[in-house]
Amino acid sequence: MKTVIYLVLLGINSAASVIHSLKYFYTGSSHVPNFPEFVSVGSVDEVQMIRYDSSTETAEPKQDWMKKVTEDNPEYLAGEAEHWSRIQQAFKANIQTAKQRFNQTAGVHIAQRMFGCEWDNETGEVKGYDQHGYDGEDFIVFDLKTETWIAPKPQAVITKLKWDDNKASIAQWKNYLTQVCPEWLKKYVNYGRSSLLRTALPSVSLLQKTPSSPVSCHATGFYPDRAMMFWRKDGEDLHDGVEKGEILPNHDGTFQMSVELKSPAPGQKYECVFQLSGVKDDIITKLENIRSNKEKPTDMTPTIVALVVLALVIAIAAIGFLIYKKKNAKRPPSPVSNPEVMEQLNPSA
Ligand SMILES: *[C@@H]1O[C@H](CO)[C@@H](O)[C@H](O)[C@H]1NC(C)=O
Ligand SMILES: *[C@@H]1O[C@H](CO)[C@@H](O)[C@H](O)[C@H]1NC(C)=O
Repeated sequence: MKTVIYLVLLGINSAASVIHSLKYFYTGSSHVPNFPEFVSVGSVDEVQMIRYDSSTETAEPKQDWMKKVTEDNPEYLAGEAEHWSRIQQAFKANIQTAKQRFNQTAGVHIAQRMFGCEWDNETGEVKGYDQHGYDGEDFIVFDLKTETWIAPKPQAVITKLKWDDNKASIAQWKNYLTQVCPEWLKKYVNYGRSSLLRTALPSVSLLQKTPSSPVSCHATGFYPDRAMMFWRKDGEDLHDGVEKGEILPNHDGTFQMSVELKSPAPGQKYECVFQLSGVKDDIITKLENIRSNKEKPTDMTPTIVALVVLALVIAIAAIGFLIYKKKNAKRPPSPVSNPEVMEQLNPSA
């Protein structure tokens, strides 16, 4: 019963409706060794499709289907690169401004922005957002409903007042988030449909370090990122004693996730269930008898080695994702036409 509710919330059972997203992350940093001062990453449905960074100052398409986009829009890459090189300068100035506001003199600082839109392909509903962060915390956030900026930090109040005052720029930004962004999103989804609208099933493995440790059910290689995974015991979905991990991106454009069964009781029938949006059949992996295994301890070594290696791989993937998340931290839109006004925190303040 509960599962049904979750499934409905996730839209997994309503086959037709899909929420697509276009998202841009900007990250500006100062004094981070071996890391570009500015990075912009654009993604569609959580799949990275374009990247710009200050070390090359070029915009690079990241998906095969982007070739068609750039062929049909010859100015696209140059336009994006030019836009982002301006943002790069703005971010540099923003970090200086923020440092002053926070009374900081030196050290490593990170400014991020994340903005974009979501579009429901059945209802046509569109949602937009724009959030700016500094040193890992929210700094200023756009509220599309009230068309005002929210300043969670006192240091952002000056910016809020200034930006709220600029009605023309707010109107332009609202237009970007609710019109331009979804238009481009639809274009991208159409260009990339053979890849973006595909489904790929994962391989699922059960991992356990020792007979008494938690059992982790790990699925990797699935697409899209609309998936659910849970444990069942004697036919009933388990909600207690399980720990669900986040869905994380793999480098090849697929996703992975895992769900851990904390303390499996001997003699019970457990199975791990994986469900992918748009795919009818679940992938069910049975947990065979968990025994104490004391009888044949020698057999366990290879398993443990394999499990430790897998655990490491997962840890590395997770760390990679965190870095990726950090790297990709901040704002704008899609191609070409986005208002410059919002780009600077307040350069002269
Ligand atoms: C929404 O997307 C899904 C999956 O691609 C598709 O099956 C469905 O027909 C789409 N709905 C509309 C109204 O296009
Ligand atoms: C900023 O730092 C200086 C020097 O450490 C200190 O005297 C001053 O009180 C600080 N101001 C704020 C607003 O924290």
